[in-house]
Amino acid sequence: MANSDNLNSVVERKLFSEAEIADTCKRLGSELTAAYAGKRPIVVGALKGAVFFLTDLFREMDVKADLDFIDVSSYNGGTESTGKIVVEHDLSKDVKDRDVLIVEDIVDTGLTLQFMKDLLLKRGAKSVKCAVLLDKKARRTVDIEPEFVGYECPNEFVIGYGMDFDGLYRNLPYVGVLKPSEYQN
Ligand code: XMP
Ligand code: MG
Repeated sequence: MANSDNLNSVVERKLFSEAEIADTCKRLGSELTAAYAGKRPIVVGALKGAVFFLTDLFREMDVKADLDFIDVSSYNGGTESTGKIVVEHDLSKDVKDRDVLIVEDIVDTGLTLQFMKDLLLKRGAKSVKCAVLLDKKARRTVDIEPEFVGYECPNEFVIGYGMDFDGLYRNLPYVGVLKPSEYQN
């Protein structure tokens, strides 16, 4: 039955299914297991969008690791970044002399990732790398590349599997393109 409250009703098309994402978490998990063998990294989830990816990916990493979270935000609810980045919730752990793996849902302009990397390196982290589910390469404005990438993402606004539009649709279990009619008047 058609239901305008149904999450699927705002999706123009499905991009990555739950099964595809699970396979990708396995692949990235093996890469990360090899990359951090013998180390004890701090895995840092970028709140809130990366939480879903993080819990799936972390369980595919056969590595002794600490877990922490950071919330930095440059968004004001729309589909475009405001450019200004603020730390809304900081790490609880000291990153000095530690290997840090940032887990992100999506890298777009790259400004958020660059801000987090700079912040952690300034605090004395030994290394800072990034695992990201989606890389929207076409929109990059700064020279930064995540080291571990799930998929290259088309230049469209995506929702689901943690990613939101105006706070909604994070609980859509797959990644889809948001219908432009949802944000264009
Ligand atoms: P920048 O531009 O700093 O942006 O690389 C990274 C953050 O922007 C959000 N973002 C999106 N969120 N669908 C979303 O739900 C998208 O298509 C999208 N593009 C960027 C996201 O929070 C990411 O951390
Ligand atoms: Mg994010």
